[in-house]
Amino acid sequence: MTTDIQQQITALTERLHHLNHQYYQRDISEVSDQEFDQMLAELARLEREYPQFAHPNSPTQRVGGTITKQFPTAEHRYPMLSLGNTYSEADLREFDERVRRGLEGAEVQYVCELKFDGVAMSLTYQDGQLTQGVTRGDGTRGDVVTSNVRTIRTLPLHLRAGGPTQPPEFEVRGEVFMPLPVFAELNAEREANGEALLANPRNAASGTLKLQDSAQVAARKLRFFAYSFLMPGRNQFPTHSASLEALSAWGLPVSDTWRMCGTIDEVLDFVHEWDKKRFTLPVATDGIVIKVNDFRQQEVLGFTAKSPRWAIAYKYPAEAARTRLREVQYNVGRTGAVTPVAHLDPVPLAGTVVKRASVHNANQIAALDLRLGDLVFVEKGGEIIPKITGVDLVARPAEAVPIVYPTDCPACGTPLIRPAGEAHYRCPNERGCPPQRKAKLEHFVSRKAMNIDGLGAETVGRFFDLRLVSDAASLYDLPAKAPELEQLERMGEKSVQRLLTGLEQSKQVPFDRVLFGLGIRYVGETVAEKLAAHYRTIDALAAASATELAAVPEVGGVIAESVAAWFQEPENQQLIERLRTAGVQLALTGEAPQPQSDRLAGLTFVLSGVFEQHSREELQHLIQQNGGKITGSISKKLSYLVAGDKMGPAKREKATELNVPIISETELLAMLPTDFDATEAVLDQMLDTPTTSPTLLPPTTEAPGSGQQGSLF
Ligand code: IVH
Repeated sequence: MTTDIQQQITALTERLHHLNHQYYQRDISEVSDQEFDQMLAELARLEREYPQFAHPNSPTQRVGGTITKQFPTAEHRYPMLSLGNTYSEADLREFDERVRRGLEGAEVQYVCELKFDGVAMSLTYQDGQLTQGVTRGDGTRGDVVTSNVRTIRTLPLHLRAGGPTQPPEFEVRGEVFMPLPVFAELNAEREANGEALLANPRNAASGTLKLQDSAQVAARKLRFFAYSFLMPGRNQFPTHSASLEALSAWGLPVSDTWRMCGTIDEVLDFVHEWDKKRFTLPVATDGIVIKVNDFRQQEVLGFTAKSPRWAIAYKYPAEAARTRLREVQYNVGRTGAVTPVAHLDPVPLAGTVVKRASVHNANQIAALDLRLGDLVFVEKGGEIIPKITGVDLVARPAEAVPIVYPTDCPACGTPLIRPAGEAHYRCPNERGCPPQRKAKLEHFVSRKAMNIDGLGAETVGRFFDLRLVSDAASLYDLPAKAPELEQLERMGEKSVQRLLTGLEQSKQVPFDRVLFGLGIRYVGETVAEKLAAHYRTIDALAAASATELAAVPEVGGVIAESVAAWFQEPENQQLIERLRTAGVQLALTGEAPQPQSDRLAGLTFVLSGVFEQHSREELQHLIQQNGGKITGSISKKLSYLVAGDKMGPAKREKATELNVPIISETELLAMLPTDFDATEAVLDQMLDTPTTSPTLLPPTTEAPGSGQQGSLF
């Protein structure tokens, strides 16, 4: 029986690895997204039941779930150097001359690659398995972010057989990045949540890699392109190009944009070719990397203190355009933040036509001394939204009009305030200001909140303008207005019926999403989940003081203050009562897990190998229910390594080296309360209660079909 299960798990694991490879590396869908998801869910279920048979690099790891409080660091086996940079073509010719001199006139081939604008990453593969992912750090030591790296879907967790022989251990270096559409979506979401926007995809990628919860990392859909192969001793490949081809054959994502060039003129052609074409890619690039192809020649040329002499980066200058500023409009967001948007004469820039640009805030307008009618410079660096970076003062027309920042809200006339330390002016009229109210409603019905079928942002906005709805609770009065709705253009009986069914169904949306939908400032999806899990009912949450709230994991002081203040407002209290009357979920269903004791408080554990008396998941649960914490990696700070059968020697060695005590399953159980029935009850509870255990799939796993980005990807 168990061997059957083991075989089933292995077969599913291999099949899913294969499908992932076909899909992400070769653009081939052998099965439907639904079939894929079913197989993935089945594998997750089997792994939950039989964790002893789960492969560490199982495709289910893609969805994350590991929490790392502090990333351990590791020393790089080969230091991670940087590249010499240049913005000038003359420098590239000089580089070529230096290389040829260094090689005493020998023939040279270059490989030109795009320079991806993300975060450098070092990956270790041992016996074909991904075992470690380390950030560049200071070039000598970096953060071990393996569980986060494992969520990158295009990255093989185990390599394909075939192609050239794989050395038992090697390192792959490359760039982790956030695809541009993902970045745009993330920022739109942050804006909707009233959170600060991320400056560019690079910052977004680097911030994401440092998130503690790998499930959140998985949701951010990072990608990776490999650009170097390193192995102990002499490299088994004669050239860099051969190593790139091998990496591809083994299933690693290598962007197929690289090219061999025999002369510096060919290199410059490549540089010119990609100057514009790079903007058609769904990844930010900021230049070209030119590398001597032959590894022996690389050795001859060697390194300076900081960078290799056999490679150089050519950086494209930030694209800028000059156009006329016609008007500045002021948008009021959901949280009342006022953002100036510049309207420009349309101008082509970096692959798109720019009509609007951000000017950030009042300070920026003053610093640039912007005037309507000015010729302004707009730039699109790594940023998606172009920004105004300067004014052509020489060309300033006499009639240019200084911009006067409004003192009152452009929508409702309330005097604007500027909270200390904030860059934005804000309209404090949270409940009366129409764009704020409308944006709050749009947020309430949005996909990640109530997700009301038949009621998208546009429809709800229209209803708001027609005064059919005014706030979240008033949505539930819509059934009484059905005849009126049916009279609206583009509505009709069918759409109204669909909308009413959607509304009815939204009463089953779990409490955490309702809480998120309320749009309390700083309460994004994750914070809403944590608060709901902690307090379980809206009444308990409303009764909590800011100090109590701040003690909930992931809830800091600012969030706590914002939540406490929100519940103090009588109008918000009424809103809650009206939502309660409407029948919306204001409490989590299911029993709350009861902690058994705090015997293990302050202790951290790593579980490794196969256990006899309990499954790994049961042991994890027991540790957590007695106040202990589980982590994934062995560090000096770890309290215990719990060793099961078949634990790998590397873990034992590392624990011994760091003086971390190694204990058995029996020794662990001896640390728990001796009341056998209570322990059994805790385990029963685990089966009954839906928890966010690390091995459970989150409710929406990304279907393989939803990540496609075009063939160059
Ligand atoms: S090769 C010795 N190739 O650019 C350094 N780097 O300073 C070898 N980068 O942060 C690096 N795309 O992560 C190389 N195709 C590419 C690259 C690339 C982006 C990044 C790299 C590092 C910086 C180099």
